[in-house]
Amino acid sequence: MNDPVFDSPIGGVTPSELNRFSPAFVTARAPGKVNLSLRVGGLDQHGYHPLINVFQAVGVWEEITATPRVDDQIVLTVQGPGARYVPLGETNLVTRAARAMQRASGVRDGVNLHIVKGVPVAGGMAGGSADAAATLVALNALWRLELSLEELMRIGAPLGADVPFSLFGGTAVGFGRGDELTALTDNGHYHWVFALRSRGLSTADVFARFDELVPAGHELDDSANQGLYEALERGDVAGVARNLHNDLQLPSFDMAPDLHLTVEHAKDLGALAVLLSGSGPTIAVLVSDADHALMMRDALVEAGVCMSALVASGPVRGAYVV
Ligand code: C5P
Repeated sequence: MNDPVFDSPIGGVTPSELNRFSPAFVTARAPGKVNLSLRVGGLDQHGYHPLINVFQAVGVWEEITATPRVDDQIVLTVQGPGARYVPLGETNLVTRAARAMQRASGVRDGVNLHIVKGVPVAGGMAGGSADAAATLVALNALWRLELSLEELMRIGAPLGADVPFSLFGGTAVGFGRGDELTALTDNGHYHWVFALRSRGLSTADVFARFDELVPAGHELDDSANQGLYEALERGDVAGVARNLHNDLQLPSFDMAPDLHLTVEHAKDLGALAVLLSGSGPTIAVLVSDADHALMMRDALVEAGVCMSALVASGPVRGAYVV
């Protein structure tokens, strides 16, 4: 028998059709990352370097709110630290992610995308990639596309090598350009301080300097990460600290020698380990606990060896709808 309330059309639309309508807005968050190990091979014919890249997602978040528009435009707004350095046109990874979702789904609707920045701009923590990841997840929900994580990772990969990892989250190793991901068993909980430099470094410039300093690149051998993988599996923070590695430190420190001072200071303050995050110039400091992290953050800023510093722990999950 028909239900007189639930089966009566509302404005010509049945309740079941109403359920298919998009929500009024969707907010999604995606994490930044630190590279526990970044090994760089020689430049290939496409102008890229093959990598073995061990990522950990850390609790520094980009947040995107997607709201439908009545026209077909994609309009970005941004707030948060470094917002004025974020380009708002077609080059922005958020716009490019929205266009990629339109192409993949056939949806042509316009959308407002509001970015709340938490990950430092141009800092080597994949803030732009996190924006793209959050956009893919938000539009998947807003447009009710029900694409799987694997499909979103496939759509996100051409946008930037770190986009799939921001969707994936946790601790993982990436091969190739860093986007063929395998989850790693990580039983630890890691407290990080990220020391930010006032001026960013361009990833392309850091790789170009790498080519000058190490023309053939390094031979890529995953067995070099074995000690790291075993320490992660044991949840042995000290063991992880001993096995952190980043081949981009050489070019990045060469281009920004002031970073040595940040590293020395962090070591003097009892850091378990200090290394460059990604292509830099953010310095990642691994510490023993949450109190040590707060002390380290305040002391590094006080000493004037960084512009500001963030505390975060990892691993955290990949991009999700809030
Ligand atoms: O991935 P993303 O667009 O951030 O890379 C910026 C630039 O860094 C690339 O255009 C390339 O010059 C360089 N790069 C590279 N090898 C990689 C990743 C980036 O040479 N694996």
